[in-house]
Amino acid sequence: MMSQPALIPDEDRVEVRAGAARYRVVLASGAARRLPELLDGDALPARRFVVSNPTVWRLHGEAFEGLTREEPILIPDGERFKNLAATGRIYDALINRSADRATTIVAVGGGVVGDVAGFAAATYLRGVPIVQVPTTLLAQVDSAIGGKVGVNHPLGKNLIGAFHQPASVVIDIDLLGTLPRRELRAGLYEVVKYGVIASRDLFDRVRDGLPALFARDRARLLPVIASCCRIKAAVVEQDERESGVRRALNFGHTVGHALEAVTKYRRFRHGEAVAYGMLVAAEVAVARGAMPASDRDELAAVITQMGPLPAVSDLPAADILDAVTRDKKVIEGTLHFVLPGAIGASTVVTDVTTRDLSRALAIIRPSA
Ligand SMILES: NC(=O)c1ccc[n+]([C@@H]2O[C@H](COP(=O)([O-])OP(=O)(O)OC[C@H]3O[C@@H](n4cnc5c(N)ncnc54)[C@H](O)[C@@H]3O)[C@@H](O)[C@H]2O)c1
Ligand SMILES: [Zn+2]
Repeated sequence: MMSQPALIPDEDRVEVRAGAARYRVVLASGAARRLPELLDGDALPARRFVVSNPTVWRLHGEAFEGLTREEPILIPDGERFKNLAATGRIYDALINRSADRATTIVAVGGGVVGDVAGFAAATYLRGVPIVQVPTTLLAQVDSAIGGKVGVNHPLGKNLIGAFHQPASVVIDIDLLGTLPRRELRAGLYEVVKYGVIASRDLFDRVRDGLPALFARDRARLLPVIASCCRIKAAVVEQDERESGVRRALNFGHTVGHALEAVTKYRRFRHGEAVAYGMLVAAEVAVARGAMPASDRDELAAVITQMGPLPAVSDLPAADILDAVTRDKKVIEGTLHFVLPGAIGASTVVTDVTTRDLSRALAIIRPSA
């Protein structure tokens, strides 16, 4: 995949083209404080409303002081509040303050804030611009780019949504300084995912740089995040609506989502469930002769090195497989499964059976 050296060590930029949309991802240490200047350059409507949550705003609100005179719109913290009620709170605040079409919404938070604020922006007055300022590693490498926005329904995750590309994405790696280690790790599993599907070089940089990445060493972290943004940008550019290559981003997510569903979204951080899902997918690939066993071993070694994962051995395999068949990646009865061919290369296949998954599950859960 494309890789480009950073202009200066603590700043980088990635261009994204998705359908008719064009936007820039700016990555820099201290970018949050430069947001007014960065947005002025983008010629966005001047009336800005920040959407955030109380946790993020308490820790970082001060960095956004010069951005707007409007009070921030805070939605409750947590995946269980990624719903239409939270979206309604954003509409209420915008309507109460007579926000018209000349409004820019600025999402400051993790994937939950970005998805809810993005959905509100996609639908308020049939669409106002959104600027994504992701504050978790997961949001910086994944959810802030690509325009998928939405909320959960009581019967399922992300069932209500839209495509609404951001007008701009601003990634300030300093904001990660307060991120709990478990959240950082959850984001790092997604980074490993990018490495496996698209870049051996990225995979190696993560494997060899784990202590520095956990220490949030800027010089290590920024290029790693930029590589992920480039991969995501390249994928979204080719396939904005996920009918083809964008599906590769779902590597590890078939079983990952099933594990999250079976445990009612309480046991795993999303990335942790994806880590198991990647192990299962690698096992399936090795069993089919599609991936060298040594690559699977390398993947397993990195995941082990990153730290403990929540237990899975008590979860009945039948429940996990049942959840797989109910996943959104099953389209007209066909499971679209991302199969790694090696570290750095993957394909999507449609002939993986529940039997294949069941065998692979038994291998990664030897105690079950
Ligand atoms: N739109 C997409 O393409 C896409 C892609 C992947 C994931 N997602 C969505 O993203 C969501 C998960 O996002 P997430 O992992 O960022 O979770 P999150 O938004 O719930 O954030 C995790 C926790 O970290 C806190 N937090 C955020 N930034 C912080 C900081 N800088 N310092 C300290 N604490 C901080 C949050 O308040 C929260 O408690 C899911 O709902 C998922 O569906 C969307
Ligand atoms: Zn994911």
